Amino acid sequence: MCGIMGCVGKPDAREIILNGLARQEYRGYDSAGIALRCPDGVRNIKIVGRVSELAKLIEERAAECDGAASGIGHTRWATHGGVTVTNAHPHESSDGMITLVHNGIIENAREIRADLEAKGITFVTETDTESPCQLLANIYDGDALAAMSALCNSLTGAFALVIMFRDRPGEIWCARKGSPLVVATADGASYCASDPTALLEYTHDLFFMEEGEIALLSVDGCRFFSFDGERAGKEPIRLNWDSVMADKGQFEHFMRKEIEEQPDVLRLTIDSYTAVTSVDMEKSLKLPDGLMKRIRRVQLVACGTSHYATLAAKDIIESLDDSLDIRVEVASEYRYRNIPGGGDTLAVFVSQSGETADTLAAARLARAKGSHCVAITNVRGSTIDREVEHTLLSLAGPEIGVAATKTFTAQIALLALLALHLTKERGVLSARDEARLIGGMRLLPAQMQSLLEREPEIKALAEKYSGSKGYFFIGRRECVPLTMEGALKLKEIAYLPSEAYAAGEMKHGPIAMLDEKLAVVALVPEGDLREKTLSNVEECRARNAPIILLVTEGDAEAREFASDVVFIPRTERELFSFVGVIPLQLFAYHTAKTLGRDIDMPRNLAKSVTVE
Ligand code: F6R
Repeated sequence: MCGIMGCVGKPDAREIILNGLARQEYRGYDSAGIALRCPDGVRNIKIVGRVSELAKLIEERAAECDGAASGIGHTRWATHGGVTVTNAHPHESSDGMITLVHNGIIENAREIRADLEAKGITFVTETDTESPCQLLANIYDGDALAAMSALCNSLTGAFALVIMFRDRPGEIWCARKGSPLVVATADGASYCASDPTALLEYTHDLFFMEEGEIALLSVDGCRFFSFDGERAGKEPIRLNWDSVMADKGQFEHFMRKEIEEQPDVLRLTIDSYTAVTSVDMEKSLKLPDGLMKRIRRVQLVACGTSHYATLAAKDIIESLDDSLDIRVEVASEYRYRNIPGGGDTLAVFVSQSGETADTLAAARLARAKGSHCVAITNVRGSTIDREVEHTLLSLAGPEIGVAATKTFTAQIALLALLALHLTKERGVLSARDEARLIGGMRLLPAQMQSLLEREPEIKALAEKYSGSKGYFFIGRRECVPLTMEGALKLKEIAYLPSEAYAAGEMKHGPIAMLDEKLAVVALVPEGDLREKTLSNVEECRARNAPIILLVTEGDAEAREFASDVVFIPRTERELFSFVGVIPLQLFAYHTAKTLGRDIDMPRNLAKSVTVE
């Protein structure tokens, strides 16, 4: 949940590290710090606040930092200990030998602390991170690899550690267990970061550290070892992302840019996984022959927005094949329940980052039960990509805004195509349905574009309702996952109470909350459930709630039911999510903007949730 950046071998290490921290600030942003190895010793500068404030402070103290060709930096998302300068990373051991940054949680930090305090070592922070820092200093006797090994083998919990030893200039040591870390070498320098996007300016050939791996970075390159100190060989993975993809460009926020990118992301996904009117996934997903026919159970497992993408996928799969037992589970629950698995189970784990701790744990459990596992992730080389046998890559490009947008649509697109592939292989997909859905998908980018062009309308609505005391999002069947996503977006970036309900459930309790200050956003596309949903809308209107209706273009009658109406292009029923989500994303974005929220870095959140 924190961002790490390190560099060795560059005279402008200071700028490189600050730049890398700024790129990863979405991972955690309550405090920041950087330790530079200057000719007269390590200079450690930390602040409570953002990387821009750290950069200002470092600028003021530039003279002290001259000549630093290596250093390590960190942006923090506090887990143990308050948000203070002392608790910010990097941490230093009492004897000054070790300077260290950490992402993750050290579970045996208290025991280590007690042992070391008993030996007379004084701790100065409230963090779990100070324990490995002081412990390493206590173990180290001149053999860095042996000390790293001993340290890693005595820690429990999750960690990505990046370390400088005072007496080893020109070296940075890294270790990984449970939290991501990627390293690289280019032009006589070596780098490390939590997130690959921070390194793309320097190279596209990246070494993703494995579980239980130690790395030594120097001007001579990167060397890798196991936690037992054995030398390990390793090949880089080429990441074909462009570093400008991780820039805001003309947009005020990453989130807004990423909303805008959705038609292109969808076009690319469809082109990559279909032929003209048929799904073409065989090249990308090499499952054993005949497997799809033997599958009886499908499990779709994820967290947060990725979970809502799986709910949308469930509707698509079951609309095509009613012989499958389909389960959708949040990963944090799946991992602690006795859920069936085995050779007749296809378990699909969806994670934008590929690093979400709960999703990884759930995938490990399913693999242990012998289920056939597929990962859907946006990050090639991520932990889930490397651990799960089969990966389908979503082609959204880097997503920097903390609130997921384009990766949500990319995930549903891939899951929809996987649904077609699965049902086709099982012999239950009719050629007509295949052509209908693929034809329908091909229309989506232009339809999404037309909605993006209606941004001023949605902005006006967001402003009009931004004084509401809360929001309800309601809809039925294919709309239910979207109600959840719409409500989540408002919660996370506007901090407003918002609830999602299957429209038919409102009268079983939630309707009691309604009055003129609670806005109801109702998703009512044309189709068999239109009338029933409108009846539920009527029930809300009768309790004086203002109603914002999302209906299909041409549904003029809908105006009678609502205070405001947003018209949505007509799609195939199963594909409504792709268009329905755009106004919901824009609505949340403009509500948050009206309220002056920090849209790309909402409070209390972090992009990649690598702790339980
Ligand atoms: C919401 C959001 C989160 C993530 C969730 C899972 O906008 O971004 O709810 O969807 O933390 O993350 P991944 O997909 O990386 O596993």
